[in-house]
Amino acid sequence: AANIPVIAIDGPTASGKGTVAQKVARQLGFHYLDSGALYRLTALSAIRRGIAMNDEHGLAKSAEHLNCHFDGGHIFLANEDVSQAIRAEEVGNTASKIAVLATVRHALYGLQLSFRKAPGLVADGRDMGTVIFPHAPLKVFLTASVEARAQRRYKQLIDKGFPANMEDLSKDLRERDARDMNRASAPLKPAEGAYLLDTSEMTADEAVRQVLSWYAAL
Ligand code: CDP
Ligand code: CDP
Repeated sequence: AANIPVIAIDGPTASGKGTVAQKVARQLGFHYLDSGALYRLTALSAIRRGIAMNDEHGLAKSAEHLNCHFDGGHIFLANEDVSQAIRAEEVGNTASKIAVLATVRHALYGLQLSFRKAPGLVADGRDMGTVIFPHAPLKVFLTASVEARAQRRYKQLIDKGFPANMEDLSKDLRERDARDMNRASAPLKPAEGAYLLDTSEMTADEAVRQVLSWYAAL
């Protein structure tokens, strides 16, 4: 798999990674890895099984035995479609708390590598370029202001019928940023050689065009 191209797209919450990565994958006919979904699935599985947030062994086991599959844009845990359920803000917050555990990250490592299949992969997350695919030929670090990101998340949640308010969202977003950037294991930061893209004033399609033009120029 070492010569199958990977485009690694990392960045903070609501920077547009998922949207941009999926569109780039579709344009190129590449596979797509939503690594955040694996942390969200682990969180949901642990919540449902009543595993305490301080039970590191139980959390690592949840990650190791994650019974999930991805099919046509839908995400399944055991055989239940949890595509919507994993997007709840509570699940995202729990995911970011368990993502600090090196044992959980280690348990999800092999599963992430298995997404690298011909003709190529677009992978989005926090450590795609730094840890999981450090030799990816193209690495992108997406950013946007806290205000722009809170606004985007607000709209997404309301559109999906989840409750949301801007004040709580901005606060959660800052807390999540701090947790993702300051953890010891695979902290969020631009990978060596990553292209930085601030999308505060850009549409998702403009960001997609930029990524595709960097890829074409390799
Ligand atoms: O959509 P959003 O950016 O808020 O989050 P996500 O990508 O679905 O990921 C949920 C949480 O999992 C993040 O807050 C990170 O703490 C964690 N995560 C991670 O640690 N490493 C990754 N490669 C992807 C997600
Ligand atoms: O994956 P991540 O948490 O980084 O972001 P996302 O789930 O893709 O959410 C970003 C939201 O902002 C989506 O509703 C996009 O349509 C919107 N958006 C964007 O992704 N990029 C822009 N440049 C502008 C808006």
